[in-house]
Amino acid sequence: MPQHRQLYESVLEMIGWTPMVRLGRVGAGIPTPVYGKAEFMNPGGSIKDRIGPAIIEAAEREGRLRPGGTIVEGTSGNTGIGLAIAAAEKGYRCIFTISDKMSQEKVRLLRAFGAEVIVTPAAVPPDHPDHYVSTAKRIAGELPNAVFADQFYNAANPEVHYRTTGPEIWEQTQGRVTHFVASAGTGGTISGVGRFLKEKNPGIRIIGADPVGSVLCHYAETGEMPEAAPYKVEGIGQDKIPGALDLGVVDEWRSVDDRSAFDMARRLTREEGLFVGGSTGLIVHVALEIAREVADPEALVVCILCDTGERYLSKVYNEEWLRANELL
Ligand SMILES: Cc1ncc(COP(=O)(O)O)c(C=O)c1O
Repeated sequence: MPQHRQLYESVLEMIGWTPMVRLGRVGAGIPTPVYGKAEFMNPGGSIKDRIGPAIIEAAEREGRLRPGGTIVEGTSGNTGIGLAIAAAEKGYRCIFTISDKMSQEKVRLLRAFGAEVIVTPAAVPPDHPDHYVSTAKRIAGELPNAVFADQFYNAANPEVHYRTTGPEIWEQTQGRVTHFVASAGTGGTISGVGRFLKEKNPGIRIIGADPVGSVLCHYAETGEMPEAAPYKVEGIGQDKIPGALDLGVVDEWRSVDDRSAFDMARRLTREEGLFVGGSTGLIVHVALEIAREVADPEALVVCILCDTGERYLSKVYNEEWLRANELL
């Protein structure tokens, strides 16, 4: 069936309805089919395109953002791009803070979209004034007609996944989905999609894939807050529990190390032709683990392919960087 048969009036109409594809080669020999939802095919190259317009339109509806206003956000890159796309269309100024852990590609991309970018140190705790989120909040408070997008606590974030990503997965699998695997950065994706799928069929298992070093898996399973430790995968995992994350919808968490995540991202590119980032590798690693354990051809595992590998050419796809970080 031909796709995109209609004419669109704006880039914003091109967000969502991303294709779903069988991961047949990395999943070879596993009886359970695994499908990836190709969120890297959104116009800004990631799942975060969905929340950009949703957050801006909510702020407009609530009267917090008026013409000529400024959008300020702390981002690992992708949310900034999603916000910048919607801001371009609507004529808002953007100021983004990003930690120096994130790839140079992301900083350059944000600037290419016309945003002002402030790079902050990664090695500070979440309550530190130089932390990327504290810095964004402070700037938004100091500027007139500026809003802090606040993806970590903004209800518009999980809500847009409840309204779009979840229903798309349900329709594309014709209700046959039995397991859903995603990571949590803000928790918006897993909470919104998880809530929608559970309402459709409470038997669907929602599985969180977390980087080793993030606190989410350990906290969800034990109720104790561990010390966070650094890791290289970008955009997912946390050093605290974000408000957009509904731990109640996640049935199970699994931790994955950087090396396994990056190995799988490179395999997806070489073996499936799906050029994806490190967080996708981490999620697919868990999705295949689940599929292997379930071993049921009637089950259907769905996972999120979060963003494009082009954002990580200097890292996940750079042997020198991998070797220097002992990740090969
Ligand atoms: C690359 C990447 N993957 C996954 C996610 C996680 O999505 P969410 O914030 O909805 O939990 C993000 C966002 O933080 C991201 O940038």
